[in-house]
Amino acid sequence: MTFTPRSAWHETPEPVRKAVAEALGAAIDRHADLHGGMSPGPAASLWLADGRHVFVKAVSAEVRAHNHTMILQEAAILDALPRSVPAPRRLATVECGPWAALATTWAAGATAPSWTDASIEAVADACRTTSRHRAPGSLPPVAQRIFDFDGWTRLAEIGANDDWEAAYAGPAADVVAGWENWTAGDALVHRDLRLDNTTFDADHSPAVLLDWAYAAAGAAWIDLAQLAADVVATGHVLGVQAATDRAYQLLRTLPPDAPRFVVGPAGMWCIRAATVSDTFNPRIASWRRARSTALRPLVARLIADFREGHRKGA
Ligand SMILES: Nc1ncnc2c1ncn2[C@@H]1O[C@H](COP(=O)(O)OP(=O)(O)OP(=O)(O)O)[C@@H](O)[C@H]1O
Ligand SMILES: [Mg+2]
Repeated sequence: MTFTPRSAWHETPEPVRKAVAEALGAAIDRHADLHGGMSPGPAASLWLADGRHVFVKAVSAEVRAHNHTMILQEAAILDALPRSVPAPRRLATVECGPWAALATTWAAGATAPSWTDASIEAVADACRTTSRHRAPGSLPPVAQRIFDFDGWTRLAEIGANDDWEAAYAGPAADVVAGWENWTAGDALVHRDLRLDNTTFDADHSPAVLLDWAYAAAGAAWIDLAQLAADVVATGHVLGVQAATDRAYQLLRTLPPDAPRFVVGPAGMWCIRAATVSDTFNPRIASWRRARSTALRPLVARLIADFREGHRKGA
């Protein structure tokens, strides 16, 4: 997923590029710009004079302060992760004037535009490996890394955009209610599981989870539930029905609270599309709306299951 193009590595001020090379301990022989993600700063593949191939991303706080903070937050998190977590390793962090840069090991494989059955399986394995770790003590409870889960409630208050929202916003809000409690736990959670935050290698080396700035301590199934949501929101090569089926099947393997974690982000995208304008990425509102709309059939099914569960439990 790409919005406005990320700036190019060669446009990064020379002192920043020099500081990155110095921190890495080798000159940068050549590079290739990467285009995934939403951050305005450059992301690049670097080939170093000593033969290493590494990843770097950078941003100026003057361009977007939030991303600058996130780069430094991610750098600290990568250092706290056990080596058995499927994450890149931090190699260097640079702060140079308003700029921050983070260099990590290169993750094998590629970031694809759509999910496949093989990439779902590989990334699900990476999520399971991650959640078998207890979260490092420096990470906050996941409730601090969950945003706008009250989206359905607020949407019902400000007025739905169409008949579907009018019918489902209230029941969806009931499903998500109490999320601060049912998301809690002590497992390591990546919390920003999206296809563009993974690499997958068809030659079957393990998938790698990227972009760890939101990692937290929470319930062990959270990344798998978010994977299910992203399969639908980002899309499957076999189409919309396949995406919804794969997501539903994955959720059926998880504890009963996991489907609630799919209904939450659908409301988050809805309320953000309706109320937040992003001047940096003007297309982001339509991206959020598209994700929320894609999730409607799954959300409707999960709400029906939730009600059925309550009826039986009552
Ligand atoms: N260690 C890595 N090895 C190989 N490719 C990577 C690595 N880290 C990131 N990438 C690629 O670069 C892209 C951008 O990286 P990342 O998601 O970390 O950037 P970001 O600016 O923090 O993200 P976002 O813009 O999504 O907030 C990813 O979508 C992925 O394709
Ligand atoms: Mg990313």
